[in-house]
Amino acid sequence: MRSRALILREFGKPLRLGYIDVPEPGDDEAVLIRIVGAGMCKTDIRLWKGEEPREGFRTPFVLGHENAGVVEAVGKRVKGLNPGDKVLVYAIWADLNCKYCRIDKCMQCRGHAIPGQSYYYGGYAEYLYVPNYRYLVKIDIDPVEAAPLADAGLTSYSAVKKALPYLRPDSSVIVYGVGGLASYAIQFLRHLAPYVKIIAVSRSDNKLKWAVELGAHYAVHPSEVNKIIKDLSPDGASVMLDFVGNEESAKMIPLLEPSGAVVLVGMEGKSYPIPVFETTVWQYVVIGSNYGSISEMEEMVKFVKEHGIKSYIEKVSLDENAVNNALNKLAEGKVLGRFVITP
Ligand SMILES: NC(=O)c1ccc[n+]([C@@H]2O[C@H](COP(=O)([O-])OP(=O)(O)OC[C@H]3O[C@@H](n4cnc5c(N)ncnc54)[C@H](OP(=O)(O)O)[C@@H]3O)[C@@H](O)[C@H]2O)c1
Ligand SMILES: [Zn+2]
Repeated sequence: MRSRALILREFGKPLRLGYIDVPEPGDDEAVLIRIVGAGMCKTDIRLWKGEEPREGFRTPFVLGHENAGVVEAVGKRVKGLNPGDKVLVYAIWADLNCKYCRIDKCMQCRGHAIPGQSYYYGGYAEYLYVPNYRYLVKIDIDPVEAAPLADAGLTSYSAVKKALPYLRPDSSVIVYGVGGLASYAIQFLRHLAPYVKIIAVSRSDNKLKWAVELGAHYAVHPSEVNKIIKDLSPDGASVMLDFVGNEESAKMIPLLEPSGAVVLVGMEGKSYPIPVFETTVWQYVVIGSNYGSISEMEEMVKFVKEHGIKSYIEKVSLDENAVNNALNKLAEGKVLGRFVITP
């Protein structure tokens, strides 16, 4: 079928509204989704600019890996899903068969594709073809609100869970980089580790204010982190959740307590200099964190509902000007929360 979509034809140039061919489910396990919400992630900026070469990413292409919508049609071998169901789209389309997939670690599957990032067109469009119904999680909340959960929410949830074993009642946690992902991470931390002190770090005053509204106990500029950690936890912070991931954020590592951990999520830098002396002597742990598993997504969807976790979104229509403006604002760091395209 034909679907309207915003098409990336040239890296770094405005996306163009046009039509794409979307396959339809047949005798198979595929599902056709009508997109209701497609979140715009900072990762899209690097892809748009051509700064992150990935296998299966070529022009023309359609971005969008944070998708939620309504089932339009299902293949004959689809189980448990019917037209009209609201769904969140798990974005790592793994082979579901390798040794990693079999233990619920699709993120580590070598054979995976990601809609909007590799091989398959993403959700900056009216319709999305999903090759297997197992990548879909049913939701009973508004798909516009749910869309960012497909990446910003799940990635933050999984990162916070990796941090939990390092936290104690007197712990401080640095949340470095206040944006779409951190907006969920701060809320998850408040519920999963209500006893810790959260220190959010951003270069912008409006984001510092927002971080406090989200639940951070302190919100400071990067230059002030040292002082606040010395005051709150003289031994250092137990964890840094790093949503920037560059040479600047790595400078915070020596502010960790002995055996403290960095959960590295952001991918803004080319390298991440780890101080050799401090890391060996104080036995720091650096944990890479990529997305989350399908069962974590199911768990998170329930958690969000149960604890009233909020999505901070600004709607963007499926329109050339609107989406290109939003892309530019996201690139310049001028968004509070998530832009969500609402076809
Ligand atoms: N590991 C994964 O699975 C995964 C999944 C999704 C996204 N990501 C990555 O996670 C990061 C955050 O994504 P997001 O969508 O939350 O982005 P976002 O909404 O743009 O938020 C990131 C925040 O970090 C700060 N920041 C950005 N660049 C910075 C820099 N060079 N130095 C210091 N601060 C900087 C900005 O605040 P200020 O400018 O005000 O400081 C910005 O608000 C991105 O790198 C994204 O690619 C990783
Ligand atoms: Zn696999």
